[in-house]
Amino acid sequence: VLQLTLAVIKPDAVAHPLILEALHQRILENDFLIVRKKDLIWRIGDSERFYAEHEGRFFYQRLVEFMSSGPMRAYILAREDAITRWRELMGPTKVYRARYTSPSTIRAQYGLTDTRNTTHGSDSEESAKREIAFFFPEFSAEQWLEEE
Ligand code: CMP
Repeated sequence: VLQLTLAVIKPDAVAHPLILEALHQRILENDFLIVRKKDLIWRIGDSERFYAEHEGRFFYQRLVEFMSSGPMRAYILAREDAITRWRELMGPTKVYRARYTSPSTIRAQYGLTDTRNTTHGSDSEESAKREIAFFFPEFSAEQWLEEE
C-alpha cells in the first residue's frame, strides 16, 4: 500500500548545492513520488518543539542549534513502504557507524557528524503523521489520496 513519510534535508546538506541535488536525485531514483516540497528556515523554537522528545539528551542543545542554523528542505514522499525505504536509504543515525556498516547510504556518503547527518526521516506511521503536520499544516492526506 501507498505510504507517506516526511523526509528532511538538513542544513549541512542544503548548504552544498551539489549534495542537495544528489539527494533530490536519490529520492527520484528510488521511486518516491514527491507529494510536497518546501524550503524553510526554523527558528530555535521550531527546533525545540520538533525535537522535544530528545530534551535532556547530551546532544539536544547542539541538535536544536544546528537545525535552526540555516535553510533546510522538507518533502512529503509517497511510495510503497515509504517510511522504511527512506530510512534504509539514509542509513544509521551515527555517521561513523553508517560508513562502517552501510557505505552506500546517504549518511555514510555525505554525513559530517552524528548531529550533522544530512537527513531526517519519520520512524513510524504515528511520527510521519505528526511530522507531516508539523512541516505542512495545510496538507490533508485524505484529500490528497482522493485526488490521486
Ligand atoms: P534525526 O533522525 O533527525 O533524529 C534525532 C537527531 O538527533 C538525529 O537525527 C541526529 O541529528 C541527532 N542525534 C542523534 N543521536 C545523536 C548523537 N549520539 N550525537 C549527536 N547527535 C545525535
